[in-house]
Amino acid sequence: MAAGVGRGRVSPPGAVITGWGSALPDTIVTNAQLEARLDTTDEWIVTRSGIRERHVGGTVSSLAIDAGRRALERAALDPAQIDLLVLATCTPDLAVPATSAAVHYALGLSGGAFDVNAACAGFVYALVAAQGAVSAGAAHRVLLIGADCVSLLTDPDDRSTAVLFADGAGAVVLEASDVEGLLAVDLGIDGSAHDLLTCPHGGYMSMEGKEVFRRAVRITVDCATNALERAKLTPDDIALFVPHQANLRIIEAAASRLGVPMERVAVVVDRMGNTSSASIPLALADAADAGRLRVGDNVLLSGFGAGMAWGSVVLRWAVDTVDATGRSGS
Ligand code: ACO
Repeated sequence: MAAGVGRGRVSPPGAVITGWGSALPDTIVTNAQLEARLDTTDEWIVTRSGIRERHVGGTVSSLAIDAGRRALERAALDPAQIDLLVLATCTPDLAVPATSAAVHYALGLSGGAFDVNAACAGFVYALVAAQGAVSAGAAHRVLLIGADCVSLLTDPDDRSTAVLFADGAGAVVLEASDVEGLLAVDLGIDGSAHDLLTCPHGGYMSMEGKEVFRRAVRITVDCATNALERAKLTPDDIALFVPHQANLRIIEAAASRLGVPMERVAVVVDRMGNTSSASIPLALADAADAGRLRVGDNVLLSGFGAGMAWGSVVLRWAVDTVDATGRSGS
């Protein structure tokens, strides 16, 4: 648990991440497997998207439960100590009730639970909602999960989307703290572009990929810059940039325009594809598991997606991470 985590019910000034976890379906689909059944090539997929393989399968609730349990273990908390669950997903198991209800029950959490749908920006929106609940004194320890099974919305015969999207879940525990955790936020949406990426009930996703790509780079850079300015930080102050994992070319272009070198960028899209709401917490958990974060590091999270919705958060990391070899920090 981080130093300074508050214990009272008074409105605490901040909230920090004290645990993280991830879950991926066992089934891995490689580009070679897609090449065998679609009019595509490994070379096209890698060159255009940077994706080499992706995990497919499971349900949002089963993946969210696994990721959530791992985050609780990492934070050394009993499930009953959690007093709010926020689940970011755009592929809920059912239309009603919210998938967070089943996850809350399976994990044995206390307090309330709700879903957030802001597509690939969902985890950032959920983080802001969780921070708001903590600041308002409505919750003290929040389990925050981003989980999506985007393969369910993807026409397996549509080469323009089937190669990109995948399934997974990432989770963090956010605890009230005397330490300032979330430093700044920038959220936005351009609903006039809502038809660029859509999926009707019971149907498959359609996407104007080129236009989404064009907007994604500009939006990511603009909202990340706004959040940095509000935090009174520059890109040089950012120890880790965790962008939404849609396409390596979008990530590289955004990082380059922001002025953050790729060594300080979290990338999992090559191994995991685009997992929508799960992609930012999966990339964050991957970096934390690799021991890339130290106490006091500034971390920039940026998401964009269907809507078109976007959001960036600058947060201060509060727990040391240790990689598999026992090495601390990056
Ligand atoms: N294999 C081979 N050829 C393909 C494939 C494929 N899998 N998919 C499309 N093509 C073809 C197209 O049909 C097109 O052929 P044409 O020129 O004969 O018409 C050609 O490749 C070029 O297609 P483009 O769409 O121009 O390729 P582009 O370089 O733009 O890359 C991509 C496509 C990867 C989809 C890119 O535009 C992209 O990543 N866009 C952003 C997508 C994204 O981020 N979506 C997520 C938003 S977040 C959310 O909320 C879910």
